[in-house]
Amino acid sequence: MKLLVTGGAGFIGSNFVRLLASESEHELTVLDALTYAGNLANLEGIPAGRLRFVHADICDAAAVRACCAGQDAVVHFAAESHVDRSILDPGAFVRTNVLGTQVLLTAARGAGVERYVQVSTDEVYGSLSSSGRFSEESPLCPSSPYSASKAGADLLAQAAAHTFGLAVLITRCGNNYGPYQFPEKLIPLTILRAMRGEPIPVYGDGRNVRDWIHVEDHCRAIWRVLEAGAPGRVYNVGSDGERPNLEIVREILRLVGTSRDLITFVRDRPGHDFRYALDSSRLRRELGWSPRWTLGSGLAATVRWYREHPEWWGKVLSGEYLEYTRRQYGALAGGAGG
Ligand code: NAD
Ligand code: DAU
Repeated sequence: MKLLVTGGAGFIGSNFVRLLASESEHELTVLDALTYAGNLANLEGIPAGRLRFVHADICDAAAVRACCAGQDAVVHFAAESHVDRSILDPGAFVRTNVLGTQVLLTAARGAGVERYVQVSTDEVYGSLSSSGRFSEESPLCPSSPYSASKAGADLLAQAAAHTFGLAVLITRCGNNYGPYQFPEKLIPLTILRAMRGEPIPVYGDGRNVRDWIHVEDHCRAIWRVLEAGAPGRVYNVGSDGERPNLEIVREILRLVGTSRDLITFVRDRPGHDFRYALDSSRLRRELGWSPRWTLGSGLAATVRWYREHPEWWGKVLSGEYLEYTRRQYGALAGGAGG
């Protein structure tokens, strides 16, 4: 199969490309604008000839059309992905996540692709109180500019399926962690700051709950949906990894071997969603997917990966990153963010 992967130089996209480059015969093309979050180092080590890379913006209709030509399928990861940045600059999220998705849908339809996977998020369902889980039938109720832009993209993808018959499949996953994650997100931020003995910013009282999943499990779920999912269907992807933020931070400090004194409670995120939790029984029942990682084994492996790859994160902690962390965390800003 000829497969176009947008955003393939980012965290999840690059893990997906690595997986398929080593375990499938698919011909892979990556389209990526290489924003602050895109990094060619994430694709290093993939044998030459297994991958074609196109440096382009998802909003550039001509470039996206050229990339879609001749493809059998598309998996769409490219997005602005960080909630805090969407609070600082919502416009960038509307442009890439909403407009960019429509550009891609139009190009995919024009090229006659057979399958189109929209990589979405549990955040489109909004926030839960302390009980219940999101099913695929839960109403869309996004609360941040990021999640609103992702919900908009999902609706455009569903409209393309309904109106034009494009074979759209949508996956909605919880919080990913694992290798190559940009250290603006809670887990890599905490690991790097713990390793460097820097204060760890915890928003509010640290009781907000996220449903964590190892990135490899997410990528295997997307691959399964790509190959066996029913067009028009939505699939939640979760591995029962619900934990309050403070518990995650404490576990990382234990794994790194650093004092809990680094934990610093800071001003809460505006509009901070309290809890996410996913019911992914449809994916398990209909497509036979199940996670391979537990949160314990996945976190330990992730801490090990950051310990063993200082050359990767050393380069990532660059000028743009330092500027962002100063804007986001003010006086607490240091080398590893926050
Ligand atoms: P990321 O920020 O690490 O990577 C995003 C990638 O998209 C980068 O390579 C970036 O260069 C590229 N990109 C951004 N704007 C672009 C543009 N205008 N044109 C072309 N490329 C552009 O994000 P991620 O965490 O890997 O998330 C990937 C996808 O998965 C996103 O759609 C996100 O909404 C979704 N998702 C993420 C999570 C998570 O926990 N990280 C969970 C569920 C769903
Ligand atoms: O749920 C899926 C979503 O998970 C994805 O769609 C997003 O792309 C991804 O960024 C992630 O969103 P979150 O906002 O949940 O992830 P983040 O790592 O930013 O934050 C996780 C939790 O930790 C959240 O409750 C906010 C909190 N937090 C985060 C940061 C960066 C802190 O307490 N301190 C911090 O410095």
